[in-house]
Parts: sequence; structure tokens; C-alpha cells
Amino acid sequence: ETISKGNHAHFMRKEIFEQPLVVAQTLQSYVRAFEGEVAIPAADFDLSKVDRVTMVACGTSFYAGMVGKYWIERFARVPVDIDVASEFRYRDPVLEEGGLALFISQSGETADTLAALRHAREQGQKIAVVVNVPTSSMAREADLLLPTRAGPEIGVASTKAFTCQLAVLAALAVNLARARGRLTAEQEREIVAHLAEAPEAMAKAIDHDEQIKAMAPLVAPARDVLYLGRGPDYPMALEGALKLKEISYIHAEGYAAGEMKHGPIALIDDNVPVIVIAPSGPLFDKTVSNMQEVRARGGKIILISDADGLAQAGEGCLATIEMPAVHELIAPLVYAVPVQLLAYHVAVLKGTDVDQPRNLAKSVTVE
Ligand code: G6P
Repeated sequence: ETISKGNHAHFMRKEIFEQPLVVAQTLQSYVRAFEGEVAIPAADFDLSKVDRVTMVACGTSFYAGMVGKYWIERFARVPVDIDVASEFRYRDPVLEEGGLALFISQSGETADTLAALRHAREQGQKIAVVVNVPTSSMAREADLLLPTRAGPEIGVASTKAFTCQLAVLAALAVNLARARGRLTAEQEREIVAHLAEAPEAMAKAIDHDEQIKAMAPLVAPARDVLYLGRGPDYPMALEGALKLKEISYIHAEGYAAGEMKHGPIALIDDNVPVIVIAPSGPLFDKTVSNMQEVRARGGKIILISDADGLAQAGEGCLATIEMPAVHELIAPLVYAVPVQLLAYHVAVLKGTDVDQPRNLAKSVTVE
């Protein structure tokens, strides 16, 4: 069956717009909304005994893993190590017999990730895989298969597979937390209710498509763009920068907001747009104070936050994008949308080949 773009100009746009649907589809396999429970497939090992997780992935899937690390450590209090696959084997990681190694991949075929998986198995690890292609090598080699239900992703720059990976990782974090006695049934019900709100909140984020398109001329002429975030929004800053680099060929860097003063602040002048990803919450004030440091140096800020956050800090920004107010657990799923749309519209304005960017491949099967 051939897949069509429908009424979208590019597959990437279609895939961004599909996210509320495919994230809902993915969540349905992991969440029993009525019972207020998360249920990941049964594994042939005891989740309650997992006391360390080793995560490995590449590219966008790696950033999903970084968000997952925040969630697993926060909710389940299980330490997580995370590596890019091309580094993992060569640093000779310390892997204790019977540990859980988790591999994240859209394609399930990325050579570095697959080699890392086989290395982990040789070291006696249990293998869990979050993968979008159910017939892939990684899916076949897993002890615990955690599929994403994004459907075929054609655009080389990953969008819907990423948010579906986040949905699965959130479910896994909650499941681990319960298995480890870290969540009461009541707390789990609350989290499940928040997860169930994600697709609708993502749809609201997509409603900003036209507004974000109108902002593209603010970013398209830049030579460098900086993305800032804290906590789980730090990997979102990395992912935002990666999306922009991949499809618009503008140099972009994602930075932990608090780390900016240790280097990238030297780059700031009025030619460097700075995209700040800052849902309101416990880390908001700190991020805003980093944002003020940018402003004091003439930097032009695009702030992505919710109504409360924008009321507090939106003034004086070059532009703002208002996201619905959401629970911190689902914020990365929602805030993924505006960073994807911004990269997309900047690339379209620059006239690049959005679905097939130069030098990149959808699935990299060489090491
Ligand atoms: C390539 C793609 C990226 C993707 C990465 C990892 O570089 O262009 O979009 O994130 O591979 O791919 P995987 O299939 O393992 O998630």
C-alpha cells in the first residue's frame, strides 16, 4: 500500500498532525484508562527487581530516552544510565548480570543501536526495546517488546515516532514505579488521567500551526539558534535544535538553561534567536532568570510556555507561543509540537527538501 501525504505539502507535516491520533493509539496499548492503571506487556523477568536501567539510542530516539530517564528516576527512583549507541560499547560499560538494558529506535535497524543491544545481551542484560517497526531486528531480539504505534514514518526527521516513544516511556516509568512500591493506586490513577489528556493537549498545540508559520521569518535568516530548557525540557531543547539543524541547515544548539552562562552566552547578540522551552512549574523561575540574562545581552527570545508562564515572563519577548496548561509529565509530549512546527516552517521558507534532507538517511545501517 502506498502512503500518501493527503492534503499536506510534506510527509513531515502530515506526521506532525497525526500525533494526537497515534499517541492516543500508543497509549491505548499501555493504559487501562477506565481502571486508572498502566499495564505494560508481561516480561519474563520481575520488574520489581529492576534496580538499574541502561538506556541506549541514537538521534531523536536518544532524546526521548533522556526524557525517559527523568521520569524513571523521578517516579520509580531507579537510576538510569543513558548513552548514545555509538559510544556505549566502546566505553566498556559496567553492566551487572541480570540488569535491564532498554533500546529505543523508530526503525529497529540502526546499526549502532543493534550492535549495542547484542553487546548488552552478551553481558547478561535483559533486553527491552521501544520500537516502531514491529518486524524489525530489534523487535525480534527483545525479551520485552514495547511497541510504539506511530505507523510508518516517512519524513527523515522523526516526529510522531518521538512522541509515541515518550508515551511508552511515561507508561514504563509509571509501571516500574508501581512495581517498586513507589506509587499508590490513587497516585497512579491521577497520572493515568494526565496521560489520557495528552492527545487533546497536543491537538491544541497543533492549532498554533499558522501562528508558528508566521514566526518562521524571525528564525530563517539566523546563522545560529539556541534552544534552552531545564529538567525534561532540556532534552526537548536538544531535540528542537536537532530538528532545526536536520531540515533547515541552520546551526542550532540545545543547552540546559542553567549551563548557558558557561559558554553559549558568549554567542548571544541580536542576530541569535533563542528559543526558550519553559512550561510553568517548579523550574520556571530559574529558566526565566536565564532568559533574562539572554535579554540583557540583546538576545531575541521566542518563549514557549502556558498562559501563566507567558503572563509572568512573556513581555519583551520577540514572540511567544502559548501551550495549554498541562501536568509536567505530559509537557514534553505537548511542547514537542511547536518545536517541530517551527523547524518545519523555517525549512519550508528556506526551500530545503524537508522530507529528504541532504546527507541524512531515515535509517542508518552502517556503524
Ligand atoms: C537517523 C534518522 C533520525 C533518527 C536516528 C535514529 O539519523 O535520520 O531521525 O532519530 O537515525 O533512528 P532510529 O530508527 O534508531 O530511531
